[in-house]
Amino acid sequence: MTHLDRILAGRIYFEGDFIEGCVGVSGGEIVFIGKEANAPSYDEKIDLGRLIVVPGLIDIHAHLRGMRLKHKEDFLTGTCAAAAGGFTLVLDMPNTDPPTNNHLRMMEKIEEASDKIVVDVGFYFGKPENRRELERLLNTVAIGVKLYPEDYCGSSQAELAGMLKTVRESGRKIVFHPEDLSVIKENRSKYPAQLKGVEKHGFIRPLEAELSALDLFRRLSEPGSHATHLTSVRSIRKARGYGFTFDVSVNHLALSDEDLSSMGSICKVNPPLRSPEERSMLVESVNRGEVPVIVTDHAPHTVEEKSATLYDEVPSGIPGFETAFPVLIDMVNRGFLNLHRVLEALTKGPASFLGDAKLGGIVEGNVANLTVFDHKEEWHVEPEDFYTRAKYSPFKNRVLKGRVKATLVRGEFVFRDNEILVSRGFGKIYGFKRS
Ligand code: DOR
Ligand code: ZN
Repeated sequence: MTHLDRILAGRIYFEGDFIEGCVGVSGGEIVFIGKEANAPSYDEKIDLGRLIVVPGLIDIHAHLRGMRLKHKEDFLTGTCAAAAGGFTLVLDMPNTDPPTNNHLRMMEKIEEASDKIVVDVGFYFGKPENRRELERLLNTVAIGVKLYPEDYCGSSQAELAGMLKTVRESGRKIVFHPEDLSVIKENRSKYPAQLKGVEKHGFIRPLEAELSALDLFRRLSEPGSHATHLTSVRSIRKARGYGFTFDVSVNHLALSDEDLSSMGSICKVNPPLRSPEERSMLVESVNRGEVPVIVTDHAPHTVEEKSATLYDEVPSGIPGFETAFPVLIDMVNRGFLNLHRVLEALTKGPASFLGDAKLGGIVEGNVANLTVFDHKEEWHVEPEDFYTRAKYSPFKNRVLKGRVKATLVRGEFVFRDNEILVSRGFGKIYGFKRS
């Protein structure tokens, strides 16, 4: 049997159960799972005691920014935050400045990210400028397209439908943000142009906008597209009925419009936080195993930007990497969420979204991406200590029970006990895998 680089001894999440044992790693792969007595020889043993070892978390929806938005986040700060949150692979969104919507910009982004990332990163492109650019984008490693409401709620639907068909036939992903712009515009017009504060956010972008966007998108694409950050059980039922895959964000599971009322701008996010009742129904849907993927939608802005007075000037988005998993584990500890459902939706679910059989499970032959956490440790959320540039959080000052202790990518410790242990550029660009 192969000599191992290291073994991790602890409580291993294996085939949906927790076993006391070891994971053995060699050349970046998982090559052994079992009792230490049966393990081949190894260089190093890491005794994790009661800590839990799960497959490396995967986030299919995050904003790492960079380029002209470096003041919000860059590829180093963003991926350090991801590692500190237990994420081994994150997929980055194209709504950057400039937007990632042609071949040159995709290549520039990959170049900028390559020597900075500490965990693996994949990329979506935005609505391509034209067909020629689409063809060229399909020759890159990009894993698919991400469409925003302004990309599909207007005219030239036929052209877009044609592009989506090409994306689909290439095996790439089609991910869309479901909110119907016409509903939003109509509601926004009911309030003064100089609207102050964010209290009206949920009225301007109600659930009805989300449901209507699902109808719109069904007319544009064949089944198989992916609706991201659904906020209600009604949306989930509709998406499933239409043959869409979907995910739910930690924000919509952990927060409600009551938090928007009490905390204001920090909780302004698109789509908006919904009512506490809607949120509990969403949580129950996770517990019934209906939600295949949970995302962070890590969306960093600066504190100054978030402090704007006018409604339209407050940017939407909440940083999430460093709180997402602990917030969910805390909800497990408080009896609201089912641990297995949470773990599956952060590992196996996203791996199957990617169609990548080598990720998402502690299985011999898989990539040795692993996340280690303490499900009982309590810690105080202090955004000042975050790796992300966005040093604010709706969870500030909360005491969360559940803490990420280590993150391993390809068998190496990227993060351990609050420290980043690899040099920038250790992370790899995650490319589209032809299935
Ligand atoms: O709240 C949001 N923030 N929703 C989006 O769709 C974009 C994101 C961002 O990029 O900040
Ligand atoms: Zn987003």
